[in-house]
Amino acid sequence: MAADAPPVPALLQVEGLHAYYGRAHILADVALSAAAGDVLALLGRNGAGKSTTLKSIMGLVRPAAGQIVFDGVRIDGTAPYRIARLGLGFVPEDRRIFTDLSVMENLEVGRQQPRPDAPTWTPERLFELFPNLGRMKSRPGGRMSGGEQQMLTIARTLMGNPKCVLLDEPSEGLAPLIVEQMAHAIRTLRQEGLCVVLSEQNLHFSSLVADRAVIVEKGRVRFAGTMDELRADPAVREQYLSV
Ligand SMILES: Nc1ncnc2c1ncn2[C@@H]1O[C@H](COP(=O)(O)OP(=O)(O)OP(=O)(O)O)[C@@H](O)[C@H]1O
Ligand SMILES: [Mg+2]
Repeated sequence: MAADAPPVPALLQVEGLHAYYGRAHILADVALSAAAGDVLALLGRNGAGKSTTLKSIMGLVRPAAGQIVFDGVRIDGTAPYRIARLGLGFVPEDRRIFTDLSVMENLEVGRQQPRPDAPTWTPERLFELFPNLGRMKSRPGGRMSGGEQQMLTIARTLMGNPKCVLLDEPSEGLAPLIVEQMAHAIRTLRQEGLCVVLSEQNLHFSSLVADRAVIVEKGRVRFAGTMDELRADPAVREQYLSV
């Protein structure tokens, strides 16, 4: 089996993805796949196309070509809310918490029915995953730090009991101690059998959590392989990542 493929059948499979903003051809032939219990890092510098890839998977940017299969269903061309209902969660770059609602109320906003083939999350379980949030259950979202808000958006997405989550730069702007907590949380999601695709510029964070990596540059895939292969390839890292 190819090193750039997940070890078990993919839950999320993207092939030949092309996307445009107006006339600008942003993604060209992007491919990636991730299985249950698999963490894939989508790496690349500013403007490489990481967020556009995640938004295209989620239906927020309409792919011009390509095939996106989630859990056996073609989802390219499907509305974002329908994709979410299939069990694909998305945490965008601009964390959109409700600033007037408390932590508990923000979590309730994300609640969906339990899914037979995905872990079921409750606020109590999420406070085990993110202990900081458990200490501020009634605090309004607007009076939390950026890192706490980041944890809250991930926790709220998990309230939808997804099978797979797309996280856009989960470590961005976090203090080192909080980065460790975030890494621990993502490793727990993997243990729970979730499929996780995270975009990152931070190679250190990615190596704490990811099994495999895809590097994009100018909207094209430049590397796909295991984190070990990436660690062993300084030329690729220097060419496409800010290290
Ligand atoms: N709404 C938009 N309209 C037009 N161009 C856009 C839009 N959003 C992004 N772009 C352009 O598309 C390209 C890819 O952007 P994208 O946000 O996917 O990059 P990224 O890898 O997520 O970068 P970063 O690490 O800075 O978040 C960039 O050239 C960017 O300027
Ligand atoms: Mg981005």
